[in-house]
Amino acid sequence: SNDPLVVFTPSGKRGRFPAGTPVLTAARQLGVDLDSVCGGRGICSKCQITPSYGEFSKHGVTVADDALSEWNSVEQRYDDKRGLKKGRRLGCQAQIMGDVVIDVPEESQVHKQVVRKRAEAREIIMNPSIRMYYVEVQEPDMHEPSGDLERLAFALKDQWGLEGVKADLNILHTMQPALRKGQWKVTVAVHHGNATQPAKVMHIWPGYYEGKIYGLAVDLGSTTIAAHLCDLDSGEVVASSGIMNPQIRFGEDLMSRVSYSMMNKDGAAEMTRAVREGMNTLFDQIAGEAGIDKGLIVDAVFVCNPVMHHLFLGVDPFELGQAPFALATSSSLNLTAAELDLKIHPSARVYILPCIAGHVGADAAAVALSEAPDKSEDLVLVVDVGTNAEILLGNKEKVLACSSPTGPAFEGAQISSGQRAAPGAIERVEIDPVTKAPRFKVIGSDLWSDDDGFAEAIAGSGITGICGSGIIEMVAEMRMQGIVDGPGLIGSPDQTGTDRCFLDGRTYSYMVWDGSAEAGPTITVTNRDIREIQMAKAALYSGARLLMDKFGVDKVDRVVLAGAFGAHISPKHAMVLGMIPDAPLDKVTSAGNAAGTGARIALLNTDARAEIEQTVQRIHKIETAIEPRFQEHFVNASNIPNAVEPFPILAT
Ligand code: FES
Repeated sequence: SNDPLVVFTPSGKRGRFPAGTPVLTAARQLGVDLDSVCGGRGICSKCQITPSYGEFSKHGVTVADDALSEWNSVEQRYDDKRGLKKGRRLGCQAQIMGDVVIDVPEESQVHKQVVRKRAEAREIIMNPSIRMYYVEVQEPDMHEPSGDLERLAFALKDQWGLEGVKADLNILHTMQPALRKGQWKVTVAVHHGNATQPAKVMHIWPGYYEGKIYGLAVDLGSTTIAAHLCDLDSGEVVASSGIMNPQIRFGEDLMSRVSYSMMNKDGAAEMTRAVREGMNTLFDQIAGEAGIDKGLIVDAVFVCNPVMHHLFLGVDPFELGQAPFALATSSSLNLTAAELDLKIHPSARVYILPCIAGHVGADAAAVALSEAPDKSEDLVLVVDVGTNAEILLGNKEKVLACSSPTGPAFEGAQISSGQRAAPGAIERVEIDPVTKAPRFKVIGSDLWSDDDGFAEAIAGSGITGICGSGIIEMVAEMRMQGIVDGPGLIGSPDQTGTDRCFLDGRTYSYMVWDGSAEAGPTITVTNRDIREIQMAKAALYSGARLLMDKFGVDKVDRVVLAGAFGAHISPKHAMVLGMIPDAPLDKVTSAGNAAGTGARIALLNTDARAEIEQTVQRIHKIETAIEPRFQEHFVNASNIPNAVEPFPILAT
């Protein structure tokens, strides 16, 4: 035909349209991903495009349409009010008059890619379960009576093709004034629904709502709870925050909490209350940090181990304390914030990832989602270090998983100067081979302790303790510089050649930082701290070895280290400590909080939820508690790095 040809980049989708067709209409018909919240009314500016003349010859289009660069009156008005970038046009206003190439910038795509820092990390494509729509609703007519909600639902169907949208009761409380205030024009946030829930209006604003809506990705750990607050349009993390799990007062580790619930009537209910209250404190904190109203948080994804999972849901974890470790449910859950006493938006959706088995929970599923061992060509060991370590070993053929009770030492608990990752915590350490003096970095500053200006840089927080990644580096450095021996004893000043080692009761301790002059804390590493780390790392290593035995291999191609701590774990130090099996150092990478990342992926992309629900079905679970080989590995692994296993790569 003689109709103008339009080519969209970057998709390459093309078609011919009658002159005068709005670009947004052409994009819709070709299935080009171009955003719109106002449905082409020139209000939202989500549909911005760039007519890109330079691309013409590449696509065989030769005629430029100069009219396409001129703004119309709607765009002029928009520019006056809110500003429109030069060279940009609103796709709903620009009309196709001749052959043209049109670029859809990333921010105008609904399914845009969220930028991630790690090169090897999986990309996140935006596809949130809740989106905003601007609609014009028919006014009521006495002669044809119908409810406001029914006319709103009709408008959503008519203008957006959304079928059968329902509403929660709280929407009925706010809908009528909103419709009238907006003169029958409103913006609604709609949850698209899923297998168990119909599509629902979550919130209603009069007129066009320019603000944002948010979601939470929460990693509920036994020791710490960490949350990311994400913008549900851009996917950006707008604030991150963490607190200690208030259940700690009922027991440091999982099994002590299970026994608390067995010994105390209402014990489980008490712990449920504590964790939900803690969650609300955390949400207040994170919303405060981001400067937003908590009521704008409409979606939340949780990952946690099975005991945390049950206690969060208000299910007694009794069955998880004994073989055969039966879960109340292993399926993913779609709930609402109100059902869990979470004080965010009253209709906020809550998604909890599926569990893999009795001791391998939704946190392991989240790690699998983030690190995708099931898609790996080579054999990868993924270790998520926490109070309970999640360990995955596998490749495209098969994935095995187990959890190992490492205890809270790696999260800075039960360590004399330990603390969670927060400003003031030592997170990086080097010990001088000659003087045996440590230099270190604390969270909140990029400077090392012997850099000029360090004291000023940390003046706000001071030096308060050692976090999980810091204690790993500290003990490994102490081992490398001969301050600690293989069995785990700190030497005397004579043995180590430094007065930093001092008699502290019956064993020696190592002085890291004497803050007494500034009335700050004195930070030492005691021999008990070394013991705690030995137990924790032995549990971790034994879990990994057990999976290798089951897989029938004695080495792995690569290792991914993850942990809920703020800083990344140093591969070298983890290996010196013997936390992980021997592997070439350049094949060991650090993934940060992989469980938290998995939660974020599931928050921002609903397809990922279906994907992980499928994947967990194919992960084979290994139970460490009943495996004699686990004990065998454990005994040898308490030495640093290990009593029997060779560490040939480490030695070179
Ligand atoms: Fe909203 Fe174009 S679609 S401004």
